[in-house]
Amino acid sequence: MNVVVGADHGGFELKEHLIVVLSELGHEVTDVGCYSLDSVDYPDIAGKVREKILAGNGDRGILICGTGIGMSIAVNRSLEIRAALCHDEYTARMSREHNNANVLCLGARVTGLGVAEEIVRVWMETEFEGGRHQRRIAKYSR
Ligand code: RB5
Repeated sequence: MNVVVGADHGGFELKEHLIVVLSELGHEVTDVGCYSLDSVDYPDIAGKVREKILAGNGDRGILICGTGIGMSIAVNRSLEIRAALCHDEYTARMSREHNNANVLCLGARVTGLGVAEEIVRVWMETEFEGGRHQRRIAKYSR
């Protein structure tokens, strides 16, 4: 899959680590920044990921800020985007099986490196269940 990845300064280091993880899993990664620890505004990065996905230039997105909250609010501004802020393997799996989440948000100041890595592995490999869940997500997205 082509995964569009972005972070603000709070998520920069975790983004760099997860890019390696995603590459090892065989995914193509598009990194929209940021590219250093210099302070940036998370909505700008969220917008870049959203635009790539809407343009068909990415299958999934991963966004990281300090808490994951700002990114998830900022990116969920389109009917095509279903972003989920996940904190563990369970929420990661459910966000795929039940919500067909196409953007994963993480909080680098909340979630440790090892847990974040497992979240990404589970999130990337879990399929959407469809059925009644398709009916439900059709009520708020397309
Ligand atoms: C930046 O300090 C911080 O506000 C940001 O990373 C994020 O946590 C916002 O929701």
